[in-house]
Amino acid sequence: MDLHAIREDYSKQALSQAQCADNPLTQFQQWLTEAINAKVNEPTAMNVATVQDNKPSSRMVLLKELTEQGFIFFTNYQSRKGQQISQNENVALTFFWPELERQVRIEGIISQIAEEESDAYFQTRPYTSKIGAWASYQSQPLKSKQELLARAATLTLKHPLSVPRPLHWGGYLVIPNYVEFWQGRPSRLHDRICYQLQHNQWHKSRLSP
Ligand SMILES: Cc1cc2nc3c(=O)[nH]c(=O)nc-3n(C[C@H](O)[C@H](O)[C@H](O)COP(=O)(O)O)c2cc1C
Repeated sequence: MDLHAIREDYSKQALSQAQCADNPLTQFQQWLTEAINAKVNEPTAMNVATVQDNKPSSRMVLLKELTEQGFIFFTNYQSRKGQQISQNENVALTFFWPELERQVRIEGIISQIAEEESDAYFQTRPYTSKIGAWASYQSQPLKSKQELLARAATLTLKHPLSVPRPLHWGGYLVIPNYVEFWQGRPSRLHDRICYQLQHNQWHKSRLSP
């Protein structure tokens, strides 16, 4: 398989320091809105990288809330990522919106959100997703698919109407201390504008591509 010849030249838009908002969360909200309006595939999908014992690990999750503080996603607190997060609060997020030739990189500190906030989001989920949160012992070995389906079936009998949130399932908030916006440009001369938090102030600068 020859991968050498697979290459895109990016030319859709430019990005300047002056046009970027003073606050990276404001800038992110603008780009996310543009990604949603452009109907890109999975606009809220982001990679979450965690570190345990100096070893990185990463996977995709869905951004479910953007607040003035940062980025919220939901998962199983006992999963592999949950265990890694409990050992190391430093994480990184990456969004890639190929249709817009854009990437956003975020680094920050992660923590569990308040139980009531997780309850509130859990109750907005479809019934089958709520059952799934109970049925899946996320990241644990599973003898067979049948075992999972049987557990889900038993849980629907146990909770035919309302499903309480499992205490081991909830939200994480990532409070950023570094955010970088990347806009693809021709000839690999891309635009990169980064924000660094220093003494509680965001500082914007341009990076080499
Ligand atoms: C597009 C996409 C979105 C996903 N969203 C979530 C999510 O919001 N929460 C979640 O726990 N897993 C989500 N997953 C599954 C994770 O990538 C991963 O398989 C799972 O969380 C277990 O990861 P872990 O073993 O590192 O904890 C998503 C996967 C994809 C491909």
